[in-house]
Amino acid sequence: MLNPHLTTLTDYPFDRLRALLDGTPPGAPPIALSVGEPRHPPPPWLGDVLAAQPADWGRYPPIEGTPDFRAAVAGWLTRRYALPADFIDADRHVLPVAGTREGLFLIALAVLPERKAGGRPVVLLPNPFYQVYLGAAVVGGAEPVLLPAGPASGFLPDLDALPAALLDRTAIFYLCSPANPQGAIADAGYLEALIGLARRHDFVLIVDECYAEIYDRQPPAGALAAAAALGDAPDRLAVFHSLSKRSSVPGLRSGFVAGDAAILAAFRRLRAYGGATLPLPVLAASAALWRDEAHVAANRALYRAKFDAAERWLAGRFGFYRPAGGFFLWLDVGDGEAAALRLWRQAGVRVLPGAYLGRADAGGVNPGAAYIRIALTADLATTEDALRRLVNAL
Ligand SMILES: Cc1ncc(COP(=O)(O)O)c(C=O)c1O
Repeated sequence: MLNPHLTTLTDYPFDRLRALLDGTPPGAPPIALSVGEPRHPPPPWLGDVLAAQPADWGRYPPIEGTPDFRAAVAGWLTRRYALPADFIDADRHVLPVAGTREGLFLIALAVLPERKAGGRPVVLLPNPFYQVYLGAAVVGGAEPVLLPAGPASGFLPDLDALPAALLDRTAIFYLCSPANPQGAIADAGYLEALIGLARRHDFVLIVDECYAEIYDRQPPAGALAAAAALGDAPDRLAVFHSLSKRSSVPGLRSGFVAGDAAILAAFRRLRAYGGATLPLPVLAASAALWRDEAHVAANRALYRAKFDAAERWLAGRFGFYRPAGGFFLWLDVGDGEAAALRLWRQAGVRVLPGAYLGRADAGGVNPGAAYIRIALTADLATTEDALRRLVNAL
């Protein structure tokens, strides 16, 4: 009576982490750096905007959000990525999602065909990866094909290594940039090449840019800008952005998808049946957040200070590198699961074994197995404390 696809998925990484650690007492007052849940304060005015129209809690919100929300998003995209003024049509190219997690999952059900090039459709995704991509592929009945995204290819899939026959069968390619967990950023050339592949092989490119505003030095390139540089509409492209990381409001559940008008029309239709809508006060608060950059710059500065601290503690150890984007450290500790258990048992520091974010390849090698992922989400003093404990324990 249960959906058999679900049984082919592993438990979610945080459930696996509980199974690994819950029987073991922490060796010191716990510090949780396992979940990518931002803990910086959101801008102080957010509560006022949320409370401004209490009667709106009594209304069902429209699936496509409000014109004000879509205009705020289109304006932000145009400014952020220096897009041509008419590139984003706020009514055809933008839809709100209740956090990008549900959007990244559900869009696959709006896109996946029964068959592609005479076979079961393929979903390409990086390995290691944000688990929702695999869930969407599997529940959508597609064949997931995992692409190595280790240090040999700059922590991104190697586009030159993809056989044409595989690309012909591909219905969806998920890319994450800045990447969770590795922090790698796809540059404009990479994104343009990938859009070219999507067009030549007729698949949909889904780019998860939810860490786009958490970067170290250079603002990451964006897939919409790459499409604009190629000179036409954002065909076969759907880009996801979130306020969870940009504005430190993961509880607001607010993001959007922007891109191909036909894909978004299909997605809107699917959402009419099974999508979560954003309450009107949340849409108003979200529009205000997308229009403000001051709090985003302040947020970035807090992360930079923690990467400075990480560099002081970890340079020359565990393959430390300063990620170009995102807020994770991805450390090569030899055996990530053993290290996570030791860190918890000896030092009370909770981190995620990289193996839980990857899957074994055909040769049985999980490209995440040697790593731990550390989310730099706590305040600076707590982060320093955790780094000191980590160096002592490992
Ligand atoms: C790569 C990636 N994509 C998407 C999400 C989902 O974020 P949200 O649903 O809060 O927008 C996360 C959250 O951790 C993430 O790491």
